[in-house]
Amino acid sequence: MLTIDIISVQPKMFAGFLAESIVARAVRKGACCLNVVDLRDFGEGRWRKVDDRPYGGGPGMLMKCGPWFAAVESVTSPYETPPPRIVMTSPSGRKFTQRDAESLAAESHVVFMCGHYEGFDARVESLATDMFSVGDFVMTGGELAAAAMADAVVRLLPGALGGGPAAVSSESFGTDGLLEAPQYTHPPEFRGMCVPEVLLSGDHRRIEAWRKAESRRVTASLRPDLLEGGRV
Ligand SMILES: C[S@@+](CC[C@H](N)C(=O)[O-])C[C@H]1O[C@@H](n2cnc3c(N)ncnc32)[C@H](O)[C@@H]1O
Repeated sequence: MLTIDIISVQPKMFAGFLAESIVARAVRKGACCLNVVDLRDFGEGRWRKVDDRPYGGGPGMLMKCGPWFAAVESVTSPYETPPPRIVMTSPSGRKFTQRDAESLAAESHVVFMCGHYEGFDARVESLATDMFSVGDFVMTGGELAAAAMADAVVRLLPGALGGGPAAVSSESFGTDGLLEAPQYTHPPEFRGMCVPEVLLSGDHRRIEAWRKAESRRVTASLRPDLLEGGRV
């Protein structure tokens, strides 16, 4: 079973996520185990300091090595097999994709490191096996990035979603790498907008062919880069 440890200086940010989400339900159902670790518990001195001014000057504070090494070492062991995946959240990281979610979902232990302030002392990077960004923008901390990635991973785990494996296999970025075809539910007509006739036909071969064609059309229109990337 997958264990996820999220290390953060703002652990309370995960309270809602752990109480209300599909991830919370997956944890309750025993699909995975998720722990939030307070970096401050590994802070230095009386004030449990986790940050300090950067050498060479510059704005803001950096997260110190000591607390990060102690926190990561508290949830991992050098003897773990397979070794844990330790993910540093960073705007400089490689952009996280569905393939990365699949790869992490196949592991038994994943640790997310949530940065804050101006980020990490560069030496902290040596702890990480992966450095992921959730997009080309800068947030104040890694918590939302870690929550987004953990959500994408957990929903892939057996038993996490009500619909079973089919619920994830036909989605965007699935095995064919395309976006999902448009979907509709009741009513068949709403304000003059009709559900495509084929979806009401009951002819599953035609429906499958329509979905494949639509999936390709939508991908070419909204994300042509996915077609150009050579995966599809
Ligand atoms: C204010 S940011 C630090 C930005 C850093 N000074 C820079 O210019 O790259 C603080 C923390 O938020 C997290 N973070 C911010 N944007 C992110 C993104 N797009 N993807 C992943 N993590 C992000 C990282 O953990 C980062 O260390």
